[in-house]
Amino acid sequence: MKISIGSDHGGIHLKEVLKRHLSEREIEVDDVGTYTEESCDYPDIAIQVCRKVADGSSERGILVCGTGIGMSLAANKMKGIRAALCGDVFSATMSREHNNANVLCLGERVLGPGLATLILDAWLDTEFAGGRHERRVDKIMAIEK
Ligand code: RB5
Repeated sequence: MKISIGSDHGGIHLKEVLKRHLSEREIEVDDVGTYTEESCDYPDIAIQVCRKVADGSSERGILVCGTGIGMSLAANKMKGIRAALCGDVFSATMSREHNNANVLCLGERVLGPGLATLILDAWLDTEFAGGRHERRVDKIMAIEK
């Protein structure tokens, strides 16, 4: 699996933790930035990650900012993206099982690295259940923007 990951300055430290964890799990990581602590605009990063997920060059995406909120707002404006902002393991699991989320959004200023890593693992290891959930997800994807 290849995953694209990105953060703004508010998420750069958690991004590094998650990158290390993904590498330990032997998952290919594509880091689109940001690469410094200099202030930047999270929508620019969200667009880069989501384009790769939408065109299939990455299977899934991870976006980190201070709260995860800005990233999730931006990501869910992009065609083909189902971004889930998760602050707990149950939501991360359900975002895959019921919603087939293809982008995970996390807040560095909200979560400690340990919980964020557990959330990531749950999100990576849970498959979409399909069935009635597929019909519902299809309805989401058919909503015109
Ligand atoms: C940046 O200060 C902060 O606004 C950003 O990281 C994010 O939390 C926005 O939703």
